[in-house]
Amino acid sequence: MNKEAKTKFEINPLLKQRWSPRAFSDKTVKKAQLQRLFEAARWSPSGMNEQPWRFIVGFKGDDTYHNIYESLVEFNRLWARFAPVLVVSLGKKVYTGKEEINPSYNYDVGQAVAHLTFQAMQEGLYIHQMGGFDPAQIVARFSVPAKYKPETVIAVGYPGESYMLHPNLKKLETAERERKNFNEIVFTGKFGEPLDIF
Ligand SMILES: Cc1cc2nc3c(=O)[nH]c(=O)nc-3n(C[C@H](O)[C@H](O)[C@H](O)COP(=O)(O)O)c2cc1C
Repeated sequence: MNKEAKTKFEINPLLKQRWSPRAFSDKTVKKAQLQRLFEAARWSPSGMNEQPWRFIVGFKGDDTYHNIYESLVEFNRLWARFAPVLVVSLGKKVYTGKEEINPSYNYDVGQAVAHLTFQAMQEGLYIHQMGGFDPAQIVARFSVPAKYKPETVIAVGYPGESYMLHPNLKKLETAERERKNFNEIVFTGKFGEPLDIF
């Protein structure tokens, strides 16, 4: 399915092609591909080079996958079961060696996942991030220490066919992708004053 971004300006083709599918094919994700995905995440920048990101990786059929899947809200269970790999991203809330909160830990984890996403596209893989899960279940099922916060669950795989999906999801899968205009997000002078280059 072509869900390419309808950009006003030319951007990197991988970023243009990226989207978040809910239908995944049963094609296996190779170990070497995952190595590269997490290598990309590992080299992401972070505040004070704290590298607060952590990942728990489950492969369809194993206990880790089952435990991640069980933490998902009903809506996400409808489709995430197609993904061959499910990953939990977690953030370390405090700086190492101090009890002080790291104010950029969420930001840094998100950026590492963005790097992982870009590498996934390079591999022909797509990812779909989810905030719809129960973090308490992740903490309990994986004995996550208190200093860490489960951030998202990430489905990884090759895109599948939309007919696989529940009828309500099929509509979402084929819907037009939407974005805010530049004047709502890029400012100059004062907050809210659009930068006049678009
Ligand atoms: C932090 C985060 C949480 C998300 N949570 C969910 C979710 O629980 N379920 C879902 O189906 N999609 C979820 N999404 C996917 C977004 O809905 C999707 O990225 C957005 O609609 C833009 O679509 P695109 O990624 O195809 O451009 C989430 C995305 C992010 C980044």
